[in-house]
Amino acid sequence: MDARTMEPRKPEIGNSALYSDVIAGMSRSPKGLSPKWFYDDRGSAIFEEITQLSEYYPSRTERAILETGLARIEAHVPAGAALVELGSGASVKTRLLLNGLKGLSTYVPVDISEDFLHASAAELATDFPRLDVRPVVADFMQPVPLPDLGGQPVVGFFPGSTIGNLSPDAARALLMRLGEWPDHDTLILGVDLVKAPETLVAAYDDASGVTARFNLNLLRRLNREAGAEFDLETFRHKAIWNATEARVEMHLQSLEDQSVQIGDHVVEFAAGETIHTENSHKYSVESLSELARTAGWHLAEVLTDPQALFAVAILHRT
Ligand code: AVJ
Repeated sequence: MDARTMEPRKPEIGNSALYSDVIAGMSRSPKGLSPKWFYDDRGSAIFEEITQLSEYYPSRTERAILETGLARIEAHVPAGAALVELGSGASVKTRLLLNGLKGLSTYVPVDISEDFLHASAAELATDFPRLDVRPVVADFMQPVPLPDLGGQPVVGFFPGSTIGNLSPDAARALLMRLGEWPDHDTLILGVDLVKAPETLVAAYDDASGVTARFNLNLLRRLNREAGAEFDLETFRHKAIWNATEARVEMHLQSLEDQSVQIGDHVVEFAAGETIHTENSHKYSVESLSELARTAGWHLAEVLTDPQALFAVAILHRT
């Protein structure tokens, strides 16, 4: 008899990268997991819901800044430039720029999700026939190889405050890597600004519980793809403002002492213990300016909304 048939049934592990990451994250103290795992199909759909929430000001505010500031932005975009967008996703905000920046000749969306990237690139190519659309499948946390753009000036576009997911050190390292792209002298960067803690926490802990669903979906995903057996009823969503680090943190907090099976592993949780699932760093114009300066860039212009909730900064390479 085949020895393997004698083994007890193990939960299925469909995503080995997720599995090894979660085992590493659960072995650390405090426990943690990368926010990149939020975005399965369900998580991406819940994120879209978040962007529509009254408490979640970043998306609509950035959009308004891009609309209002288009002429100011255009002044930084040389004729014949290539716009390179990091983590382009559905390229929604991008349409504003692609419509408004008449000098652009090329659009390079960079995203890790291949199917999604190619589908949205094809749509954009149809909608913007004068643009050369050249998608690149890549993880921008690794060096991103740009296609040969034949010496066109490159304008980077990194919207959405996605840079806030990184620690300031990691953000600096990313900005330095971006400065190494050939002909890359201008970067349009969306960052969320420090403000009243109540406003910040409400944006990550909305009254209708959408962000709670977004956070808890991570456990659902682990159950489905990484052989985990989390009981979602025994964890709760938590969002806190960490003033020392200038960041909103999201956690999943165990409501009881429990052991959770994850593939071959058993992970112990004490009541009240959390899994740290996301950091969302907030900047002031000063701290952003310092970050840029130490990464070989400087702030050429900072566009903001009347309440100074969010900033679209235009960086030039020093
Ligand atoms: C997509 C990383 C910018 O940090 O505000 C929204 C993700 N998490 N609500 C953010 C998020 C919870 C978002 N970023």
